[in-house]
Amino acid sequence: APLLGPATLAAGSHAIHPSGGEVSGSERARGKGHKARVIWLTGLSGAGKSTIARLAERKLWADGIDACVLDGDTLRMGLCSDLGFTEADRHENVRRAAEVARILAQTGQVVIVALISPLEADRGLARRIAGVAFDEVFVDTSLATCEERDSKGLYRAAREGKIENFTGISAPYEAPAKPDLHIIADKSNAEQNAVTLTDYILRKIR
Ligand code: PPS
Repeated sequence: APLLGPATLAAGSHAIHPSGGEVSGSERARGKGHKARVIWLTGLSGAGKSTIARLAERKLWADGIDACVLDGDTLRMGLCSDLGFTEADRHENVRRAAEVARILAQTGQVVIVALISPLEADRGLARRIAGVAFDEVFVDTSLATCEERDSKGLYRAAREGKIENFTGISAPYEAPAKPDLHIIADKSNAEQNAVTLTDYILRKIR
């Protein structure tokens, strides 16, 4: 089945004639002094994805890079507020986030996405949708550590059966087999991990 791009999939797509913008990607890259890229952070709830993403965004910005963050929790308050945590809803959540990342990357930005995105197949879909250079970054914090931190109290609620389909407890997390960048976040602190991520991104976009 075709998986590339929304217009090809939309119902009645025979009537849709997408047209790109006037300013090309390479013109934007020249203007900004760096290339666009989608940096896709995956990991368990509480692994530190959002924190690392935000710290890296700040460091990149300080270095003159037009970077932004797309965060799962935030998207779920708006664009994805109709979605829950079944496999089908997570699939749709990942698809929408990837489509937004694609649009932002077309404006020349470095887009850091922080989404659990637990299934390998859905992350593969995100890579195909993004349409620009894409890195899968595994924010690898063990379930034991995430559960011990339990900053939002969700693991406890999941163990008590108060939350269904909780990643790592009652829903699967497929760790990336070959991430482009593997951040072992169990022991190192968020600041160190953000430096690792920022350095990686800077090497790729210049
Ligand atoms: S996914 O799997 O990519 O669609 O999830 P995502 O959009 O990143 O949303 C994860 C945040 O939702 C909260 N939450 C849950 N996570 C996992 N499983 C269940 N059932 C669930 N219910 C609510 C949780 O706060 C996640 O935030 P993070 O930032 O990942 O800890």
